[in-house]
Amino acid sequence: MNVTVIGAGNMGSALVKQLARAGHQVRVTARNPEKAQAVAAANPGVTAVRPGDAAAQAEVIILATGYGDAVAALKSAGDLRGRIVVDITNPLTADYMGLTIGHATSAAEEIAKAVPEAEVVKAFNTVFAQVLAEGGDFGNGQTVPVFVAGDSERARQTVADLAKSMGFAGIDAGGLKNARYLEPLAGLNIYLGYGAGWGTSIAPTWIKRQ
Ligand SMILES: NC(=O)c1ccc[n+]([C@@H]2O[C@H](COP(=O)([O-])OP(=O)(O)OC[C@H]3O[C@@H](n4cnc5c(N)ncnc54)[C@H](OP(=O)(O)O)[C@@H]3O)[C@@H](O)[C@H]2O)c1
Repeated sequence: MNVTVIGAGNMGSALVKQLARAGHQVRVTARNPEKAQAVAAANPGVTAVRPGDAAAQAEVIILATGYGDAVAALKSAGDLRGRIVVDITNPLTADYMGLTIGHATSAAEEIAKAVPEAEVVKAFNTVFAQVLAEGGDFGNGQTVPVFVAGDSERARQTVADLAKSMGFAGIDAGGLKNARYLEPLAGLNIYLGYGAGWGTSIAPTWIKRQ
């Protein structure tokens, strides 16, 4: 699959690594072209592109910027019509104890409103960059879940399949509105990882009695 990652930071570089390993055609862009080039150079087959070329050829665009930069990055990415945009952002306050946009909306819904020509999906926001970089196999049959929320069934399935190809378990988490639950869940993950001292080799999951 043709995938462009916007952002070459912690998450962007980990996404590029796993996508390239899974055999996808991967392009990466960042505000600073040198950062995108460095990530591309570290991953065979990956191409660094200018921000304005991000959408060209991409079936899926993964937005790996901070929430505050997300809409501007998408608006300068080129033609988004028919593209699946994966929002991984967590709009957390500086003290990580709240959401800058409250609970009556979500970053994903606000991004979707700004780019109605795209199919926006929330995913990967509950996965720490370290987990993403190291892989989703936690041993003993445990696979890190990637919760996928979006209003297009096709887009949800595509992103769940993409996550699976990268070694994670794609979980259908329903409509885009459910990003209102996924974003605070990432806040709890950050509390457990940093506040409670569990470290960043953790991930939220669900269990079901068999
Ligand atoms: N870190 C985690 O464990 C984690 C886990 C789950 C979700 N998230 C979410 O993932 C997102 C990225 O986190 P991160 O830790 O990877 O942040 P980061 O290391 O600061 O990386 C952000 C990247 O976004 C790029 N960027 C900003 N504006 C851009 C634009 N207009 N066009 C292209 N690129 C642009 C930056 O490029 P320049 O450096 O060139 O400016 C940088 O490469 C955040 O929304 C965060 O909430 C993070």
